[in-house]
Amino acid sequence: MNNSLDFSQEDFKSLLDKSTALVLKQFDDVLSKDGYHYFEQSEVESWFKEDVPEEGMPIDDLLQLVEEKVINTATGNAGPNMYAYVMAGGNQVGIVADKLAATINQNVAKWHLAPAITEIEKRVIQWAAEMIGYGKNVGGFLGSSGSSANLDGLTVARNIYFEKQDIRKKGLFGMKPFTVYCSDETHNSVDKSIQLLGIGSDQLRHIPSNADFTINLTELEQQIEADIQKGFHPFCIIGNAGTVNTGAIDDLTALSAIAKKYDLWFHVDGAYGGLASALASTRKLYKGIELADSVALDFHKWLYQPFEVGCILVKDWSYLKRTYFKKASYLDNSLEKADGRLEFNEHHFLLSRSAKALKVWMSVKAFGIRRIKAMIQKDIDLATYLSDQVTKANDFRLVADSDLAISCFQYTKGLTDPEQIIRLNQSLIPALEKDGRVFITGTKLKGEFVLRACLINHRKTKETTDYLLDVIRDVGRDM
Ligand SMILES: Cc1ncc(COP(=O)(O)O)c(C=O)c1O
Repeated sequence: MNNSLDFSQEDFKSLLDKSTALVLKQFDDVLSKDGYHYFEQSEVESWFKEDVPEEGMPIDDLLQLVEEKVINTATGNAGPNMYAYVMAGGNQVGIVADKLAATINQNVAKWHLAPAITEIEKRVIQWAAEMIGYGKNVGGFLGSSGSSANLDGLTVARNIYFEKQDIRKKGLFGMKPFTVYCSDETHNSVDKSIQLLGIGSDQLRHIPSNADFTINLTELEQQIEADIQKGFHPFCIIGNAGTVNTGAIDDLTALSAIAKKYDLWFHVDGAYGGLASALASTRKLYKGIELADSVALDFHKWLYQPFEVGCILVKDWSYLKRTYFKKASYLDNSLEKADGRLEFNEHHFLLSRSAKALKVWMSVKAFGIRRIKAMIQKDIDLATYLSDQVTKANDFRLVADSDLAISCFQYTKGLTDPEQIIRLNQSLIPALEKDGRVFITGTKLKGEFVLRACLINHRKTKETTDYLLDVIRDVGRDM
């Protein structure tokens, strides 16, 4: 045995072949995969409960353990029976790319630590901007998620907007409270970001949404005026390019105009729906996104990437550098004598970072954006199909459909009492989880509990969508 952690080439090949066989096996039956595999929490915990192992185990036994306890029990994100939250099914090029990225183990902190990957990440950022019509030569960064992209956008917003007050040096001490505005349908990563940034959730105004779940513009302006009267300093509006509950898209042009009128930063949360603005059929709904100062996107949603990869876009690279740059002797690049090297660590809080861009770049190169857009359109069409089926059925009630790929409804089972219907739907969630054939979660719309189906998986079909309603009926029948 050699004195490193490496296997012989022969043993490594055998391990790779076995892992490839495991990957392939996942796709033998991907279209009929259950949405969920129910086990008690204590049972899952018991599988892994052990002291740190002093000695290693045979790799074949380990692979078998992983197959049994991890792969075979995994939540069925890849398959078409997942409707919960916003779970895209990944894609096969992404699987290969992540393996290759781990192999070269690049650290995209500094240009010379990852020359090709740095340039690829820059390219992916420009492609994302091109897809949503955000402009050319914009700045950006690939982080972990939509949540991190919202935090990134709002961090840049705070640091650039209050740059003259030297906020990075002085902190928020002694400043007049500044206020932020978003609709009451906004994702909670915005609330978390506002808390993390020291602005405080008391200063985040959740403006009531209209019947279509978009922000009420009149109430927004009234609130801004009222805050000015009370001595607050309004500083930022957050628009939604697809809310998490229903996919509602705010009037981004109007929000941008209000931001301009009151001299505010304009951030757009496009984590769920931003990339769908690339479609001819929906582009007009997103008019005004190009006017945002920052836009949060999420490639593990509508670019079908394996978790995890999110993206913040800002109008100019300098925004990022002015927000984050901190000189350090051990990161100094003055001796590198090369122009044009973009140092990602100077443009973000993170230093060490994986090659997230590789899977995005390889997927877009392999499929082409036309095919990816066709898949997004298919998701949207299937959600419309689902809403139509719900409307036609006499044992379901459509509560909200969407311009994007979400349908919110209730199973009524012929009941008419709203309280009873809500209780039935609330108890359906754990019952469906136990059943496992489909995985769907719920939410509240204007206070009313509904089942929420999010269709964001290129493997879905009309048949798998019908199956969702059949399973709900089947499980609900006995309740
Ligand atoms: C509108 C919106 N914003 C932000 C997020 C957070 O994204 P992530 O789960 O990648 O952190 C989501 C997730 O569903 C979302 O729908």
